[in-house]
Amino acid sequence: MLQVTPSLTRLHVSCYMIVVVDFGSQTAHLIARRVKDLGVTALIVQPDIALSKIVEVKPQGIILSGGPASVYEPGAPSVDKRIFELGIPVLGICYGQQLMAHLLPGGQTAKGKIREDGPATLILDKSSLLLAGVSPHSRIWMSHGDAVISPPDGFTFVAHSLTTPSAAMVNEKKRLYGVQFHPEVEHTEHGNLILTNFLQKICHLSIAKQKINLETIIDQIKEKIGDKKAIAAVSGGLDSTVASVLTAKAIGKNLIPIHIDNGLMRAGTTKRVIDFFSNKLGIKPIILKTQDRFLASLTGKTDPEEKRKVIGKLYIDLFQEEVKKYPEVRFLVQGTIYSDVIESKGSRHAANIKSHHNVGGLPETLQLKLIEPIREFYTDQVRQIAHELQIPTEFINQQPHPGPGYAIRILGEVTAERLTAIQMADEIVVSELKAAGLYEELLHSFPIFTNAKSTSVKGDGRVFGEVVAIRALTSKDRMTADWARLPYDLMQKLSSRITNEIPIVSRVVYDITTKPPATMEWE
Ligand code: XMP
Repeated sequence: MLQVTPSLTRLHVSCYMIVVVDFGSQTAHLIARRVKDLGVTALIVQPDIALSKIVEVKPQGIILSGGPASVYEPGAPSVDKRIFELGIPVLGICYGQQLMAHLLPGGQTAKGKIREDGPATLILDKSSLLLAGVSPHSRIWMSHGDAVISPPDGFTFVAHSLTTPSAAMVNEKKRLYGVQFHPEVEHTEHGNLILTNFLQKICHLSIAKQKINLETIIDQIKEKIGDKKAIAAVSGGLDSTVASVLTAKAIGKNLIPIHIDNGLMRAGTTKRVIDFFSNKLGIKPIILKTQDRFLASLTGKTDPEEKRKVIGKLYIDLFQEEVKKYPEVRFLVQGTIYSDVIESKGSRHAANIKSHHNVGGLPETLQLKLIEPIREFYTDQVRQIAHELQIPTEFINQQPHPGPGYAIRILGEVTAERLTAIQMADEIVVSELKAAGLYEELLHSFPIFTNAKSTSVKGDGRVFGEVVAIRALTSKDRMTADWARLPYDLMQKLSSRITNEIPIVSRVVYDITTKPPATMEWE
């Protein structure tokens, strides 16, 4: 029988200061990252073993993450409620708050009238240690269908939003706290302050902003690869470039960069790869011109996941064909980053949103060992590393392009004609945003060929042509995103140029959906 000692005090020094209980939220890992960024160690644990892990690890604080389930559903993940009796401060976030209300006497969680996903305003009603220093009205990020309708005994609601009375609840005496919104995401204005308050004022931990140590990363690569050779898949995007440069610093010319020009990437990508690797790094990349093979493999394919799989498989096949020419190569360098890992089911309870072709499947099909130097980092950290490595700003400031490229921005079948048309539309979007000085403020800005058709009048005739949507998003953490409020004149220019310059396009629409609920890409 498990012994639960109520005497775990904050004087105890543990190697994990915070335990994050993972209810499957894609942001559970982001919570841990935010905590670690503040110089506080964090351990992510599964709910069923949370109590025993907490008793073993003796942290100074516990954070219950969000998650996709409803607390009242049969089989919904839960924790042993004795974790609230340990005298350790607890912060419940979203599902975590709802679970606190569900488990503690007097509390109640129920389904809300409508889901609330995206930006909202937090309005403070009472002062609390958790929300100390937060403005009376501030922007928060919500993502929930359920809500706490009655606080547990000893708790008070201290803030609300227009649709949710239980935006935050506190029991200062027992040091138990809950918030309905997500303080860990970038779009919550005072999110970092709220987490800092929890760690500093409530858990009595000291905060020290962390710095990434490049020497250690390079030494680790050196140690793994030794004097063997490695092949790097360089897409021209920031992630694979950073991973390759770190590896080049470790093993020099034993790195063989390969760029597969699949015709699905943004115009100019291949040229930039050649220039950078040959001239700046002194390592000539191998370029495989393969657009025809990719187009042929996509013929007749309309299902998004199938398209991803086809592209992923061909990518790997091409690599394997190339690798055979270098029997001495033992390693494959990849620019996988942390959000790729999480989105491809890094967490047991998370819904599997998409299969990212650069994460799943590789180790089984390749004879090469993987080197993933930036697997632990989020985008903003990768940018920081890139600056330190003095990678040119055109790599750092470019918007990320998904591995399957235009193929997942052309809904339905990818044909040569539609590919050429989307490349033209994309160049218009990118060049106009650059001219307006807005390109670098956006995470993404791209056209989507929606597979819908509409009527237009071009010249003397009616054209039943493609409807193109434009998606322009702001986001810093890549997990959530807001649609950009582009100036109307700019939108007009995009619409006019795309419909005038691309014969098969009849109409341009603008996507005004945040993530969540919508994903950034349409497929
Ligand atoms: P979503 O659409 O899931 O996109 O909100 C989140 C981020 O991931 C990128 N993305 C991909 N990247 N392979 C990739 O390498 C993929 O299959 C893929 N799908 C989405 C997307 O562009 C955005 O930055």
